Amino acid sequence: MIKKAAIVSILALLGYAQEMDLTKRGEQIFKRYNCNICHAPKDDAASVGPSLETISIHYLGNERKLIDFLKGDSPPIIEPQRFGIMKPQLYKTKHMFEEDYRALAYYLTSVNKNQ
Ligand code: HEC
Repeated sequence: MIKKAAIVSILALLGYAQEMDLTKRGEQIFKRYNCNICHAPKDDAASVGPSLETISIHYLGNERKLIDFLKGDSPPIIEPQRFGIMKPQLYKTKHMFEEDYRALAYYLTSVNKNQ
């Protein structure tokens, strides 16, 4: 008989694998759309936009709102005064598959996960 603990750890591993998949897919979208030109993982004076670390601080646990931002349905909360630079980028993320929004939001908030 399979022990409950074994089932629990298998489920945890599956969950972890799924999270890794999402993060990878999100990272691919992020790079394909050249978001990394302006957004670095950590704060860095040379970057035009906020780091992924800063984005995680504001949106971790609130991915729904982040997705709404990427759809153009929710206003910026990090640096609204500099939204003029980010706004033209939203045409890239305005029309994506729901699963891609999840992946991108997951990646954008992944820097501070598991810490
Ligand atoms: C030309 C530079 C540039 C590119 C390219 C760029 N961004 Fe930005 N981004 C910015 C700037 C500047 C801000 C700060 C203004 C703001 O908060 O909206 C920002 C802010 C953001 C924010 C925070 C929004 C908030 O609530 O304030 C997110 C999320 C974001 N960008 C995601 C992306 C994604 C995803 C891409 C790729 C599709 C991308 N950015 C491409 C410059 C850029």
